This record gives sequence, C-alpha cells and structure tokens, in this order.
Amino acid sequence: MKNIGQEFINRTKYPSVSPSDESKELAPPDRTCKPRAQKICELPEPEKLSLPEVPIHQAISRRRSRRSYQDKSLENSELSSLLYYTQGIKRSLPGEKSLRTVPSAGARHALETYLYLHRAADLPRGLYHYRAEEHQLALLQEDDLMAEVYRGVLRQKFVRQAAAVFFWAADIYRMAWRYSERAYRYIMLDAGHVCQNLYLVGEIIQAGVCAIAAFDDDYLNNLLELDGREQFVIYAAALGSRKKS
Ligand SMILES: Cc1cc2nc3c(=O)[nH]c(=O)nc-3n(C[C@H](O)[C@H](O)[C@H](O)COP(=O)(O)O)c2cc1C
Repeated sequence: MKNIGQEFINRTKYPSVSPSDESKELAPPDRTCKPRAQKICELPEPEKLSLPEVPIHQAISRRRSRRSYQDKSLENSELSSLLYYTQGIKRSLPGEKSLRTVPSAGARHALETYLYLHRAADLPRGLYHYRAEEHQLALLQEDDLMAEVYRGVLRQKFVRQAAAVFFWAADIYRMAWRYSERAYRYIMLDAGHVCQNLYLVGEIIQAGVCAIAAFDDDYLNNLLELDGREQFVIYAAALGSRKKS
C-alpha cells in the first residue's frame, strides 16, 4: 500500500493490533515523567483561584483561534489555571493511573506539557515542563528561545507575539503498554481534548489561543530534548493576552 495514512488506519484496526504489554502482564510505566530541572517554580493552587464566571456555552460559542496578542505578561494565577484545566491531576488512582481535567483513553494520560514562556510576570523567560503531580513548573532552560520556537513552528508569524507557547509531547509507551499500535490513534485524540480546554480557559481569562500542528517535528523534538521515538511533540498552541476586537 502506497498511502501511509491509509496503511496506518488499516494496520491499527483491532484484529491487526499486536498483543499489548499489559496483556503479557508486563509492569506499567510511570504515570508521569520528570525531565531534569534547573529550578522548580510553585504555582498557586488552581481550585482556590477565582476565575471570571463565564457560562460554558458562552465560552464554547465565542471561542475562535486568535492570532494577535498584546504585550501583557502572564500572571502565575493564569498559568496555574491554564495548566490545571488542560492537564491537571484531579485524583490519583491506585497504581499508575490518575484522573485529570481532560479525558484520556484508558486513563493512560500519556501526554507531557512543555511550555516556552516568553512573557510571564513572575517567571524568567525560558523552557518549562509541567509537573502535573505536584502542579509545579520545572524550569528546564532559562533563555530567550523565541527565535528557535519560531523556527520550530515553521515561522508562523503570529507566534512571535505570543506570551507562551504550549507543546504537548506523547510519552507513547504509557499509551502503547495497553493499546499497542492503536496507541498512536488515541494519543492524537487525547491531545485534541487538551487543546480545546486551553481554548476555553483562554476565553475565560481573556487570552487568545491558536492551535498549531504545522511544525518541524525533528527541530522541536531536538529543542525539547525529546528522542522523537519514545517521546515526541504532537501538538502545540500559542497563547497571549487578547487584543480588544
Ligand atoms: C489540529 C489543528 C491544527 C492547527 N494548526 C494550525 C497551525 O499550525 N497554524 C494556525 O495558524 N492555525 C492552526 N489551527 C487553527 C485552525 O486554522 C482553526 O481552528 C480553523 O481555521 C478554524 O477557526 P477557529 O478555530 O477560529 O474556529 C489548527 C487547528 C487544529 C484543530
């Protein structure tokens, strides 16, 4: 078969999928991963923050992709809400499972959030990783990396104005342990839920969000120090303070 997309769909249909490591009774991988950090930054407790009361139907119907942003810096309270409502852990279950603010196939939650912060009120410019279990931001590299991020997203101009760029990376074995090759379908679906929540929280805090899937995979994986095989970027989004329309 010449078309790799059709081949992928066919070979990940249920009868074709290989037996999973779970079915072979292999131990599950950890619930999260922790890249080496330069510094740990505490975030305010998300459930104690008071967000503006916006009815959910209004947030959904007003949501759109916004590609122009003001210069304003992101507050820690805003970062806390954005991270918690996209990937926050609500409850840890026995073993390696957890329940988060988004659904995930088999509650595998095999995504890791990386964040390039360009303009934040209380945090230095740099690359961060969200530690979902602790609800903390781990600073991986303190630096102005906008030129690299811009190149990684194929020089999409609006990204240069963003206060933050979110990257969601698959930690694929966490999903494949249960679903084998079909994991590659599910992880993409999971990421859609995450980005939708970013859009909706953006609506509530007056931030503009634009999803990004046009990017240079190898370049971004390299920037985030992901091997591109076990861990790889699958989705991204730019976010900034919304311009008055
Ligand atoms: C999977 C996905 C990938 C996208 N990638 C990009 C992108 O790389 N650059 C961009 O400017 N917009 C991107 N978008 C935003 C779409 O262009 C946008 O959702 C679409 O035009 C509909 O507009 P709306 O979001 O305002 O309803 C993406 C959206 C999705 C769902």
